[in-house]
Amino acid sequence: MENLNHLATEMKDQVISWRRYLHENPELSFHEEKTAQFVYDTLSSFGNLEITRPTKTSVMARLIGKRPGKTLAIRADMDALPIQEENTFLFASKNPGVMHACGHDGHTAMLLGTAKVLSELQSSIKGEVRFFFQHAEELYPGGGEEMVRAGVMDGVDFVIGTHLWAPLEKGKVGVVYGPMMAAPDTFWIKVKGKGGHAALPHQTVDSIVIAAQVVTNLQHIVSRNTDPLDNLVISVTQFIGGTTHNVIPGSVELCGTVRSFDQKLRESIPGKMERVIKGVTEAHEAVYDFKYEFGYRPVINDEEATKVIEETVREVFGGEALDLMRPNMGGEDFSAYQQKAPGAFFYVGAGNEEKGIIYPHHHAKFTIDEEALENGVKVFLNATFKFLG
Ligand code: NI
Repeated sequence: MENLNHLATEMKDQVISWRRYLHENPELSFHEEKTAQFVYDTLSSFGNLEITRPTKTSVMARLIGKRPGKTLAIRADMDALPIQEENTFLFASKNPGVMHACGHDGHTAMLLGTAKVLSELQSSIKGEVRFFFQHAEELYPGGGEEMVRAGVMDGVDFVIGTHLWAPLEKGKVGVVYGPMMAAPDTFWIKVKGKGGHAALPHQTVDSIVIAAQVVTNLQHIVSRNTDPLDNLVISVTQFIGGTTHNVIPGSVELCGTVRSFDQKLRESIPGKMERVIKGVTEAHEAVYDFKYEFGYRPVINDEEATKVIEETVREVFGGEALDLMRPNMGGEDFSAYQQKAPGAFFYVGAGNEEKGIIYPHHHAKFTIDEEALENGVKVFLNATFKFLG
């Protein structure tokens, strides 16, 4: 362990410089061409790895040990977001309107560092380590599912992955047993009334007023129609209608997100929503369109795999570093891999108030404390030998 931590520390500057290169050159989901090429070329310089391209913009590297054993997969995502960066540091995004505002640049850099160290330890590895550099985490249907379909999980016994987490202080590692992140579904509603003069509302079917009632009544599903002990979010996040002050518009468009963990509850939501939408619109002589799309599966961590991560954190950083966190209603397509093998996803604390690293993920001023990258590499390295023995 001492040795592994030492090797992680030695890699630190290199990992930071990879992260800065990636941060400066962000690419959107499904368009990670240069990123994937950079990862491919960097991995190629390490030696001992079998490197392939499972999909157009993803990369997989296999490190096959000298002795037979189990196979561990470690996943990092590589995509950026459509945000204009407001940071002014030297390595701020060079691509207008595109930014690594979620820390995936750091994930890629940490996994490159891990692959570099492990590739040099090939002779002491029992079994196999697979490194997944995944495209398109931010955009449904996501890169995880595509990579699974390309067969990357065939023969994998365990899968792990991490997210750098700004709400968690640098130095901490967040571990969650069982349900960790929710299934994120999306819906679209169009309320269709009859437009007309705002001064003569009785001659119209006012889509604004009816859509407002749809929004309000949808909240009854969470508060009144489902078990309070189940976790569920229904948020209407967009309300589009109207052009000016004296015209009642003919229609209003809404969209939003539904977050849940339980599959049965999840499957019941479109029906419950449609009942409300249908009832409210019919009551006021309007009609509607309703579309519901199931997104990623929830991230549900395996008990045994999570235990390995917890023990690793205790041994490497001490018990104070461990934060046994509550689940949250965010979504992650790491869940795609967990359909194929037991897995654990965890958070590496990357916030630092003293350094002004306080902005939330997906914010134009988001960044990470780069000191956190070394911590992530340490967890990956030590966990690898725990999983493979
Ligand atoms: Ni992210």
